[in-house]
Amino acid sequence: MSTHTQSGRTTVPSILARKGSEKIVCLTAYTKPVAELLDHHCDILLVGDTVGMVLHGLPSTVGVTLDMMVLHGQAVMRGSQHALVVVDLPFGSYERGPSQAFKTASKVMRKTGCQAVKVEAADGVAESIAFLVSRGIPVMGHVGLRPQATNIDGGFKAKGKTADERERVLAEARAVDEAGAFAIVVEGVAPDLADEITATVKAPTIGIGASPKCDGQVLVIDDMLGLFDWTPKFVRRYADLRTLIDRAAFQYAEDVRLGKFPAEAEVYKLRSVKRS
Ligand code: KIV
Repeated sequence: MSTHTQSGRTTVPSILARKGSEKIVCLTAYTKPVAELLDHHCDILLVGDTVGMVLHGLPSTVGVTLDMMVLHGQAVMRGSQHALVVVDLPFGSYERGPSQAFKTASKVMRKTGCQAVKVEAADGVAESIAFLVSRGIPVMGHVGLRPQATNIDGGFKAKGKTADERERVLAEARAVDEAGAFAIVVEGVAPDLADEITATVKAPTIGIGASPKCDGQVLVIDDMLGLFDWTPKFVRRYADLRTLIDRAAFQYAEDVRLGKFPAEAEVYKLRSVKRS
């Protein structure tokens, strides 16, 4: 089955159809050049609000603004042609209710051209998801560890340690699913809770620090490339770009200081034009 539209991008129905079958590959992306490199390897590129932490040095995602998400969403759309692009709605831009969520989500879709938005599940958010979906806006939900709620939780804490907490996360996942989310990110929960969610909901689950049995996986690109200065336990580092960049900058600085850069081949050779 083709997973693409005529424009070549993966579609929301094709992601829904992957429930329990072919795994869904998702990575975050925030810039055009990185989106270009990831596009052909991923089904979904998520313009996550982690952009505030990994690119802008914020302590959490709470300080991320709508303008930041629009700017990075536009860049990722310019750098991709194949993947489904999902943009996070930032903290404070959707929680007030369906009409605020619609205003924000429609602005993000209009200004970036992305195909879907993501929201973190909290009290009342399911109602907003249903409102958006019925008006043509595909929504990805996010349950478990919710980065926008770390001030309540006292940090980035895995969820599901108590029976009450497990029940709450499961109920949130069910509510997001019933509201019509086309996929659900399940973050920072024990594998058996992630498996129960995956078995319960109709939408494909995308795990991060969750379980290999989720319908897909997502990682923050800077984490998996070894660019961020702190690596969570659940991250597998596929490269060590911090070390590579450090070595390259060291070598460049040395070459400049010793007058070894630029070499003859690295300067323009222009013929001087004589005045008549
Ligand atoms: O903002 C983000 O990057 C995310 C991922 C961690 C799933 O929500």
